[in-house]
Amino acid sequence: MPAIAIIGGQWGDEGKGKLIDLLAEKASIVARFSGGNNAGHTVVNEFGEFGLHMIPSGVFHSHVDCLIGNGVVINPRVLISEIETLQGRGIDVSRLFISDRAHLIMPYHLLLDALEEDARGKSAIGTTRLGIGPAYADKVSRLGIRFGDLLDKDLFRRRLRAILNHKNTIISRVFGASPLSFDEIYQEYCNYADRLLPFIRETSLMVNEALEKGDTVLLEGAQGTMLDIDFGTYPYVTSSSCTAGGACLGIGISPLQIDKIIGVYKAYTTRVGGGPMPTELRDATGDMMRERGKEYGTTTGRPRRCGWFDGVATRFSARLNGFTGTALTKFDILDTLPTIKICTGYGLEGTVLDNPPPNFATLEKCRPIWEEMPGWQTSTHHIRNFDDLPREARQYVKRIEELVGCPVDLISVGPNRDQSIIVRPIL
Ligand code: GDP
Ligand code: IMO
Ligand code: MG
Repeated sequence: MPAIAIIGGQWGDEGKGKLIDLLAEKASIVARFSGGNNAGHTVVNEFGEFGLHMIPSGVFHSHVDCLIGNGVVINPRVLISEIETLQGRGIDVSRLFISDRAHLIMPYHLLLDALEEDARGKSAIGTTRLGIGPAYADKVSRLGIRFGDLLDKDLFRRRLRAILNHKNTIISRVFGASPLSFDEIYQEYCNYADRLLPFIRETSLMVNEALEKGDTVLLEGAQGTMLDIDFGTYPYVTSSSCTAGGACLGIGISPLQIDKIIGVYKAYTTRVGGGPMPTELRDATGDMMRERGKEYGTTTGRPRRCGWFDGVATRFSARLNGFTGTALTKFDILDTLPTIKICTGYGLEGTVLDNPPPNFATLEKCRPIWEEMPGWQTSTHHIRNFDDLPREARQYVKRIEELVGCPVDLISVGPNRDQSIIVRPIL
């Protein structure tokens, strides 16, 4: 079997972690390809509840190799602490591997993320302040330091000295903040290198060899398509390519090797941080979604903005990624509602848009065109077959399939691995 990409179809937190944990049973490799510890993937299974930030969500299956690909930016302090937390809870992490080409998040990235966000004032992006944007910016500016660079301490010392001089000039002269100490960073990162050395590999080769053998590889997306650096609601986006295209770049495989691309959608919409969200509800229904859905960020604890399913943004992301199927999650959160709305188009100054406009200011002016459907008002937690869902629930799924233009393969009716309705087997 070939590679299967699991991609967030909205603004992140769609339930990618749950799906990967479920599917990994039949996979040999689970590989993260983008983002950093801005991601928070929750997995609930027989070992307990876990919030993963860096380590792929396949880690609970002892036969699975978990890879962190070249497209990921890594804070080694956070990664070590995540490894230790998992080990402390009895999870085996000996099959974790880190790409030698993955970029490091350095202390100046965290500092600059905070300084830049503060400087943006009211236009702040609402980043996680974990240094993600500055780390990707350095990668593109060719000022990054990669994991492989840590293997040669002399090279690392020379690179860090040159780059830190440049960063300290910006930190002190542009922002008036205190410069960072070379000796402290050098020593700290040499310690991390010693600790993480056994995990470093050429992960692209590992994936390609596995695919040649016919093994199944899951490509674990982070964030969501509407946060993508190119196609998201720019500039209110993250700094990486969260789409299926990004999966090839971020792990080092050919696009022809991806056999299936599964879009993960919540049955409604959430977003954390700033930026337009056309279907946002600032009312009791939105509050209900937040409380019932426990919509508080896994990474920052911030309340997530909640609203109805956005048929325009999701159709856009299905086309952009070429979704071959979708997983519809958190379906149970809608169980109590008498009626449910779906956005079928964006109204803008007398016209109807079928696609999100590229400019965030225009998107902010768009008003959703609603379609209202009856709710099912009965619990779906225990349901495991599509045909056992109430008629109104099946109608809702069918309408989403029509709007998105893609079949629903799986419906998730609770956070646990087994709380899943398989409509069409993904693996
Ligand atoms: P990810 O970033 O895409 O992996 O998603 P998160 O883990 O950040 O957010 C999804 C949240 O919803 C987590 O707390 C999951 O445990 C939970 N979850 C996932 N699927 C379901 C579901 O079908 N029903 C309910 N009630 N919770 C779910
Ligand atoms: P998972 O993988 C939801 C959001 C932040 C902010 C914007 C930019 O759990 O779905 P950044 O720190 O990346 O520069 O912040 O992106 N964001 C996420 N929102 N889920 C995520 O990941 C996110 N990762 C980043 O809230 O609005
Ligand atoms: Mg998340």
